[in-house]
Amino acid sequence: MADKGGLEGVVVARSRLCSIDGQKGVLIYGGYDVNDLAEHSTYEEVCFLILRGNLPTAPELDAFTRELAESRALSEETAQVVDMLADHAEPMEMLRTAVSSDSFDDPDKNSNAEDANFRKATRLIAKMPTIVARYDRRRHGLEPIESDPSLPHAANFLRMLSGEEPGQSAAKTFDVALILHADHEMNASTFTARVIASTLSDMHSAITGAIGALKGPLHGGANEQVMKLLEAIGSEDAVDAEIRARLDRKERIMGFGHRVYKTYDPRAVILKRFSRMLAAESSEPYWFSMSEKIEQAVIAEKGLYPNVDFYSASTYHYLGIETGLFTPIFAMSRVVGWAAHVIEQHSDNRLIRPSSEYVGPPPRPYVPIEARGQDAAA
Ligand code: ACO
Repeated sequence: MADKGGLEGVVVARSRLCSIDGQKGVLIYGGYDVNDLAEHSTYEEVCFLILRGNLPTAPELDAFTRELAESRALSEETAQVVDMLADHAEPMEMLRTAVSSDSFDDPDKNSNAEDANFRKATRLIAKMPTIVARYDRRRHGLEPIESDPSLPHAANFLRMLSGEEPGQSAAKTFDVALILHADHEMNASTFTARVIASTLSDMHSAITGAIGALKGPLHGGANEQVMKLLEAIGSEDAVDAEIRARLDRKERIMGFGHRVYKTYDPRAVILKRFSRMLAAESSEPYWFSMSEKIEQAVIAEKGLYPNVDFYSASTYHYLGIETGLFTPIFAMSRVVGWAAHVIEQHSDNRLIRPSSEYVGPPPRPYVPIEARGQDAAA
């Protein structure tokens, strides 16, 4: 068994989807560098690439974009679940529950065939933003906003959330953020999805489990913790002392470090540019400048680099998104990666069933209930 546990360095699947060079800070989806995709593509194109293995031709992109836009509306049942949860459930609890319940009336729910899985993947990618936006509006006592089929995926979500069509820079920033979160090799939530799929369970079950794994603060939940860190530090002047104090107390600085990257996470580099750009247009430039100072302090003190969650926090904040929605937004994007991994797992499946090393008591005689605890009492 590996000394440190955590399956570090263990290869659990062969995948055509995504690769990472953690020493060089390179991330590739289906052969394309994420920098090129962020610059030239849209989230819709990247979804097609991840699901189908190639960037779409213009007619393919038109058809896929239309299919996504037509799939955005929620069924009455899913809408009711979201409304019921709006007052009580936290955002990730709501998303986990709503996505699970969305299988009830899915016409393909009993099929793991590739075609059925593609249809379910497309519907989930389309519906998750509607779920998140509807929940957020309901919990603020506002009416949900219908999707606008003429708007791209990213801009439509921002409009469904705020009621206003976003400007060009907000729409581009959000689209890039979705691209950057779309897939990431064998991360914890993707592994969860693949384990569930390997039992020949269905797409919705795998995505529901993956949402549960993403929720944790060591994984996708870190982006919300980063915003809380920025708010707690409060000013640029307080950064150095606060970071040192936290590290002295052996606390983790959220948004730093990564199992695979030993240098800059390329997604953080791209998001930093967007955060800087939005800061320059904002009346609150300090969220960015504070972030940059934290980055310098953590590199100097600990040699740890920012991961994707670090600059996504200030970026989303500048877009006017509440902190509690940061991780659901991560899930809204990552659903395409999870779904593609489920399809890949189903296409060449063997049950994922590792082993554990037993370190419990050696075999011992059964003790009847009347006799239990006598050793302790003696
Ligand atoms: N702050 C302070 N110290 C850290 C941090 C951090 N963010 N990350 C790692 N370390 C330290 C650990 O304390 C440990 O030190 P030690 O050897 O002195 O005990 C050492 O670095 C190695 O840490 P591990 O936990 O073994 O490394 P692992 O590969 O398991 O950790 C992880 C990866 C979980 C991402 C870690 O870096 C972390 O907790 N980061 C903060 C949470 C975070 O940002 N998560 C998002 C990751 S990206 C994503 O999931 C989308």
